Formats: sequence, C-alpha cells, structure tokens
Amino acid sequence: MRLAVLASGTGSIYKAITDAGVDVAAVLVDRDCPAIDIAHENDLQAVLVERADFGTKFDRDQYSHDVVTALRHEDIDVVAMAGFGTILGDPFFDAYEGRVLNTHPSLLPSFPGWHAVRDALQHGARITGCTVHVATLEVDAGPILAQAAVEIRDDDDEASLHERIKLVERDLYPNTIKKFLAELETTT
Ligand code: GRF
Repeated sequence: MRLAVLASGTGSIYKAITDAGVDVAAVLVDRDCPAIDIAHENDLQAVLVERADFGTKFDRDQYSHDVVTALRHEDIDVVAMAGFGTILGDPFFDAYEGRVLNTHPSLLPSFPGWHAVRDALQHGARITGCTVHVATLEVDAGPILAQAAVEIRDDDDEASLHERIKLVERDLYPNTIKKFLAELETTT
C-alpha cells in the first residue's frame, strides 16, 4: 500500500507519521509550507499542487481532479490528511473512497470545522481532544477510527491547547494509520 500525506501547515503531524516508522511514499502540499522541507529531509520531493485561488471563483472540482492526477502519478493507494488546508471535492473522494484518513483537533462530532480548538474554548468545554476518522465528502463527518481526550486548563489559549492536542495526535494518528494499513493489506 502506497501512502501519501497531504499537508499545508507546519508539517509536525506529517513528521510524526514518518518518525513513527510509517512508510510515506509521497507528500502533497497545496502551498509553500514547512512540510516541503520535512519531505526533503526524508529524501522526498514534495509534490506541489498549488492552490492559486482562495476566492469565490476557486474551482474545487478541477483542483481535486489535479490532486488525484498527481497522486495517481505516484501510484498512491491511501491518503492521510495532515493539516491540509483545502477541502477536496467529489473527484477526490470518488477516486479514494474509504481510503482517506484525517486527524481533527476535537472530539467529533463536537466542534467540526476550521476553528475546532477555538470553538471548544469559546464553549467553555472542559475536555476536548482529537479524532482520527475516515474522511468523506462531508467535512469532519466520516466514520471515527480513534479518539483521545485532552483536558482544557483554565489558563489555556488557542495555541497552548492546540499544541497539547497535537502532542496526542502525533501518537494516535500514526498508530491508527498503521492499523488501518494493516487491515487494508489483509482485506485486499
Ligand atoms: C492538526 O491539529 C490537525 O488535526 C489539523 O491540523 C493540524 C496540523 O498540524 N487538521 P501541523 O501543521 O502538522 O503541525
């Protein structure tokens, strides 16, 4: 099974995946971001499918199609989203249905969306966490594979809480990916 990681942010989750010994065949990014350098350190050339348009005219289907073309070019079977900043559309989920994983910084179904950490704080939640799930067309709604709780402290701000959640994600996500790949190997 050839795994690709999709990233846009600091790449710390991607780094945790490779550091845990998961074989990453390709890294795909939608913008210039530190994940490119981490890929380089792992002897990989990150594939840039640049998202040039962040406005209302963004052609999500065309972009998703371009991502699929790039992944096919790398012979990718399974995709792990690791802080990828673009919501992908039908062409992507048609191509990789049931084979896309994501980690989200809340205990889904609570606090889906881009501001999960901020929303948990604003709601006065005392416990949040992270969720690894199968990603589907509906954002943050796919089948849950694993979750871990993180306590919210009185002095937390968005950055401190997100970093403590990421500490947990960096362990839970690679382990869940390993199990998912192992199960896929035995069933295909
Ligand atoms: C993680 O918290 C992940 O759940 C979310 O984006 C963050 C990525 O972190 N989807 P990083 O950019 O890899 O540090």
